[in-house]
Amino acid sequence: MIIVFLGPPGAGKGTQCKMLVDRYNMLHISSGDILRRHRKEGTELGQKAQSYMDAGDLVPDDLIVAMMIEEMKKIGQGGGFILDGFPRTIGQARELDAALEKEGKSVDVALCLEVDDSKLEERITGRRSCSVCGKAYHIQFNPPRQKNQCDNGCGPLVQRPDDTEDVVRNRIKTYHDQTAPLVAYYQNKGNLQSINGDVGIEQVRESLFEVLDKIVPAR
Ligand code: AP5
Repeated sequence: MIIVFLGPPGAGKGTQCKMLVDRYNMLHISSGDILRRHRKEGTELGQKAQSYMDAGDLVPDDLIVAMMIEEMKKIGQGGGFILDGFPRTIGQARELDAALEKEGKSVDVALCLEVDDSKLEERITGRRSCSVCGKAYHIQFNPPRQKNQCDNGCGPLVQRPDDTEDVVRNRIKTYHDQTAPLVAYYQNKGNLQSINGDVGIEQVRESLFEVLDKIVPAR
């Protein structure tokens, strides 16, 4: 089972993926998390990606596609995976399809989390993430039990450097210019499922379970 998770920055993709992997025994592969890991480790890819990420622009397709295909090979088959943040351009989607086709596979479902632009900025600027496990919180909508501490007890919460107001605006614009066309791409293939992400975290989760329970066996 291969799921692509689309949606604008701050729509709640990462938050929901963490719950989906628990229920469906799937792996969560987040292009943003992998890029942040490369940056932390100071790899060549991390250094190349840094200026694009800090400005809220997309990292060039050739770097991303190579990184994601490598990652998918590394994790093997398992119970399937959810791709969060990839593909993000039509070019990336075509490359993904071609790579999967070589192995006789294809994307089974593309989920699109729809959230109005007016909500995204406040969601992103209020986000705080655990510096160790990466779990995301929101200072108002999803606060940790103890101020600035991860509920998993692993680390202090930090703000991502690209979560500032001006960078967020560019990330939203970039989404509309370069990623939103993927909605039509997957619609034309007949495997798009749109979900209203403009409601509370639990409600979004229930809508996703309703869609996925029909196609993926729960654990
Ligand atoms: P990436 O890390 O993928 O960022 P993004 O897509 O912009 O998504 P976010 O992580 O900001 O948001 P999310 O939807 O996961 O929301 P979350 O669940 O955290 O990419 C970062 C950068 O890497 C890109 O800008 C680009 O430079 C580069 N990059 C990555 N992939 C690339 C690719 N394929 N090609 C090229 N470049 C690439 O939720 C947000 C906040 O809202 C949290 O605080 C959460 O608690 C809260 N929240 C969640 N759901 C709700 C809800 N229903 N109600 C209220 N609050 C909610």
